[in-house]
Amino acid sequence: MKPNDEPVADLRWWLDQAARAGELQTVADAHWDLEIGALSQVNYRRSNPRALLFDSIKDYQPGYRVLSGSVSNPRLLGSALGLGWGCTDESLLAELAVRPGEWARRAGEFAPVAVSDGPLLENVISKPEVNLLEFPVPKWHEGDGGRYIGTGCAVVTRDYDTGRINLGAYRMQVQDDGRCASVNIEAGKHGAQQLRRWFEAEGRAPIAASLGQHPAYLVAAGVEVPGDVSEYGYVGAMFGAPVRTVAGADTGLPLPHDAELALEGWVRPDNTRPEGPFGEWTGYYSGSQDPILTIDVEKVYHRGDPILLGAPPGKPPHDYSYMRTVMKSAIITDSLRNLGLPGLRGVWAHEAGGGRSLLIVSIEQRYPGHARQAAYLAAQAPSAAYMNRLTVVVDSDVNPRDLGEVMWAICGRCDPGSDIEVMRRTWGSRVDPLTLPGELAFNSRAVIDACRPFERLSSFPAVAESSPELVASVSRRWPEVAG
Ligand SMILES: Cc1cc2nc3c(=O)[nH]c(=O)nc-3n(C[C@H](O)[C@H](O)[C@H](O)COP(=O)(O)O)c2cc1C
Repeated sequence: MKPNDEPVADLRWWLDQAARAGELQTVADAHWDLEIGALSQVNYRRSNPRALLFDSIKDYQPGYRVLSGSVSNPRLLGSALGLGWGCTDESLLAELAVRPGEWARRAGEFAPVAVSDGPLLENVISKPEVNLLEFPVPKWHEGDGGRYIGTGCAVVTRDYDTGRINLGAYRMQVQDDGRCASVNIEAGKHGAQQLRRWFEAEGRAPIAASLGQHPAYLVAAGVEVPGDVSEYGYVGAMFGAPVRTVAGADTGLPLPHDAELALEGWVRPDNTRPEGPFGEWTGYYSGSQDPILTIDVEKVYHRGDPILLGAPPGKPPHDYSYMRTVMKSAIITDSLRNLGLPGLRGVWAHEAGGGRSLLIVSIEQRYPGHARQAAYLAAQAPSAAYMNRLTVVVDSDVNPRDLGEVMWAICGRCDPGSDIEVMRRTWGSRVDPLTLPGELAFNSRAVIDACRPFERLSSFPAVAESSPELVASVSRRWPEVAG
């Protein structure tokens, strides 16, 4: 729990802490046109990425800033989740074995508190004065079709029937020379379902987006929080105190009161613009340039000297692939536990698959059919189903995080003729490089049973390696070999 005088999830407070922890690097004079994107890539591909705060950006006044790399290592991600600055890979995973489930279960206790004022309202710009290019919106990758103001964003929508507020991170491209922005919500996402219902009932839907805010919101908006859980409550549960929101004047949608930059407006099914291409988490300029929903922006709100939160994807590892892998692995583990799957030992949603396409589940087999059950449940769990391609189930002696070990298990325990099954017409994505332009985003997925056959568990050839006891004994005697 944070002391009472500390703000809950305020980006500027967090950046001060990051600077003190040596986790923040400031970069001056980079160009919004590609240089910020390329430097962000250089950062997240180095062994110890830091958060990068770009200031004095070409063509913009100093103070108008862009942040990237905000959740790119265990210390940054741990602190973004309210777990302090001392996390290592191992300690973060240990915390996350229980935390996301707790945050989801306790979100209701931390409903956001609506306030009438906040730093976000320092500057209010109304249509027709709206110009999103007043802010240093990057063109992130060389092949991108435009400038993306929404990458590390939290898009706010409301359930037409229940009023439930949803946050989702969906990419947003600046359109019409800055007067509006398109928003790419994949079919099936909670945000898309909410908009569809509004369209049926009212012909248009209110929408808002926070474009710069504490990275906790990016995590909550950008991972598969269960549909009946409010992401605002989820962030509140992380910090043990409710977040404060201000209502957009036009739509009434709640925005973090201390967000840096936000917009609100309306979407209608017939208001679309061609969008993309965009360098995506799949590692490709995948996705079509089909027209997509575009926000008729009524108002823009920003603090003085606002900070845009960027989270540019691309060939993994990318800006948020570490966060997605760690969070998705924890959330899918929690889902499978809640489904009652016994013998679960671990789940890992590898960065190579963007945290989605390659899922490894490790179990201690308990009965015939257990391995396939684990595979099918994991491949279709709501938290894992979108754009999964390969789900591999391994025995508990295989470390799901170690792809070498996983491939070793596949090579020795999986008979492709009988142990690989294919599910067809499953939940794909428009950004799947295999989806053809104009086609609906179905995909297929393989479940790979790389467990020892259950009926041969006791007779399967033993693993050829020295026992842990023998290894420990020789390591003690010859430490110079053991290292
Ligand atoms: C930085 C970032 C960008 C994302 N961009 C998109 C996107 O453009 N479209 C999309 O449908 N999902 C995108 N996602 C994934 C969704 O945010 C994620 O699936 C989330 O659970 C959606 O929320 P919802 O299910 O409540 O709608 C992105 C995630 C992150 C972290």
